[in-house]
Amino acid sequence: MNLLILGSGGREHAFAWKIKQSPLCKKLFIAPGNGGTADYGTNVPISYNDFPAIKTFCLEENIDMVVVGPEDPLVKGIVDFFQKDEALNKIIVIGPSAEGAQLEGSKAYAKRFMEDLSIPTAAYREFTPKNIEEGIDYIATQTPPIVLKADGLAAGKGVLICQSIAEAQEEFKAMLGGKFGDAGNRVVIEEFLDGIEFSVFVLTDGRSYKVLPIAKDYKRIGEGDSGLNTGGMGAVSPVPFVDDVLMEKVKSRIIEPTIRGIHRKGLNYQGFVFIGLIRVEGEPYVIEYNCRMGDPETEVVMPRLKNDLVQLFQQLANGTLSEAKIEMEERSVTTVFLVSGGYPEAYEKGKVISGLEDVEDSLIFQAGTKKEEGQLLTNGGRVIAVSSYGKDFHEALSRSKSNAEKVKFAGKYYRKDIGFDL
Ligand code: AMP
Ligand code: GLY
Repeated sequence: MNLLILGSGGREHAFAWKIKQSPLCKKLFIAPGNGGTADYGTNVPISYNDFPAIKTFCLEENIDMVVVGPEDPLVKGIVDFFQKDEALNKIIVIGPSAEGAQLEGSKAYAKRFMEDLSIPTAAYREFTPKNIEEGIDYIATQTPPIVLKADGLAAGKGVLICQSIAEAQEEFKAMLGGKFGDAGNRVVIEEFLDGIEFSVFVLTDGRSYKVLPIAKDYKRIGEGDSGLNTGGMGAVSPVPFVDDVLMEKVKSRIIEPTIRGIHRKGLNYQGFVFIGLIRVEGEPYVIEYNCRMGDPETEVVMPRLKNDLVQLFQQLANGTLSEAKIEMEERSVTTVFLVSGGYPEAYEKGKVISGLEDVEDSLIFQAGTKKEEGQLLTNGGRVIAVSSYGKDFHEALSRSKSNAEKVKFAGKYYRKDIGFDL
């Protein structure tokens, strides 16, 4: 098969690494890819949102399967675009239709979905500019912290946790006033849940499903989960506190009703459901759905998945997913993200990266990198994920840290405490 991966992050590098190991993969392309994906396939300078250019490329290269990394093209309807086009509709696209992707693309849609299916999640109300006054009054009845969510995609920045009623009212008005552009035309106000988060990844064809290795990511820039939110500073898999008892509750109360809901609503869904969960007093609640894999979670989940990923995708497409048996690596995997100094605020690009050849016993997944005249340069905030195996996450982390020291670029920063709360 000829495959095309859409995206350019560490997640897509991890997909490329995994897919390239499959005997089913003949040619592999990544659009647009990064400095690392080029080691496993051919980078193609096409934006993942440029559907007509993707179409031309798929026809020219006889692409059989497209694996969509980020949420943006899914929410914009890339799956529908392929299925409606006679020249493209034989190509397998891994991801949900635009409607299915609303589970991530609209927080209000996701909340209504969970409400319909009695899936445990924080209590909520939704508001638009039409009932802004009602929203302000509603906030006054709440006990802080108060969670405000812009309905639409806001590049991970659309969630605010406000510590006072006054702050929540101000932010609420700003959101409906356009602070996050159209994403904030509707705002969800949620009850704050106090607990520990983890992520479950499910592969589904909209009927049956398989659970992939679970993971926990670390989003804050600073150690001890302090400072600004980032795209993700590290991750671990498995998650020690997620035992069989908790996982059984997650399956029966969350995963199964979710898949039933997808089926009942007739959503065309052949892809990943990433369920962001929180454990509160021993019970799991859904924080959010995503319609794709996580980043940096993919950099720990793929190394723990023993199955042939391309075969799983084929089974997803031909209705035999239920026959698949997921096999997981027993060892732990931890990833640590090396980021540019200043990130997630202003930072410089174009710094020379060296030392990758000295890395031993870790997998390198590149994100914000590019190759120029034979040199590898930084090209983003999150630069390189260093993933390692270990008998537990402590051992894996110490491997990642010792290799993180060997990789050099000006301004490099990384968190040394991934897994600190486990
Ligand atoms: P989201 O974009 O929905 O993943 O939200 C970003 C982060 O905000 C989550 O990972 C949580 O840490 C936090 N968060 C979202 N909703 C809640 C909630 N209801 N209670 C507590 N924390 C939340
Ligand atoms: N690591 C969280 C995400 O990918 O959204």
